[in-house]
Amino acid sequence: MERTLAIVKPDAVSRGLTGEILKRIETSGLAVCALKKLQLTRAQAERFYDVHKERPFYKSLCDYMTSGPVVIAVLGGDKAITRWRELMGATDPAKAAPGTIRKDLGVDVEKNAVHGSDAPETAARENSFFFSGTEILA
Ligand code: RTP
Ligand code: MG
Repeated sequence: MERTLAIVKPDAVSRGLTGEILKRIETSGLAVCALKKLQLTRAQAERFYDVHKERPFYKSLCDYMTSGPVVIAVLGGDKAITRWRELMGATDPAKAAPGTIRKDLGVDVEKNAVHGSDAPETAARENSFFFSGTEILA
């Protein structure tokens, strides 16, 4: 059983897509092991995305991720990291495969509806960034 972090980003929360995205997660067989809605502070967004701090889109990304509430979940299941990335689709909705969340629900390369951890080490870091051990259930 692997765990990964999912974020429903502000563009999707504000358009009322949280339920649709959670439904796709559960229909795929992944489990929702933890769940919360929160407004990221500037400091939280900058720290969460510090791996991207040299990238040209970093400031815009932090502006966007603090523009409204997000819904954050820990997902669990066999190969959860890869399975969640496959459900999300490519970063740019215009290039994402048909049937993926980003293709169906994303707006553009920044406002792409969802986040997913990309490796076991980042999943561990990101899960503990938002949740304590006792908040993550089977
Ligand atoms: P994520 O981390 O959100 O799951 O997305 P990802 O791995 O597919 O993409 P990543 O390269 O980690 O980029 C993180 C987020 O930054 C925004 N972005 N904007 N303007 C741009 O060219 C650009 N590129 C990336 C997106 O919100 C992306 O998900
Ligand atoms: Mg990423």
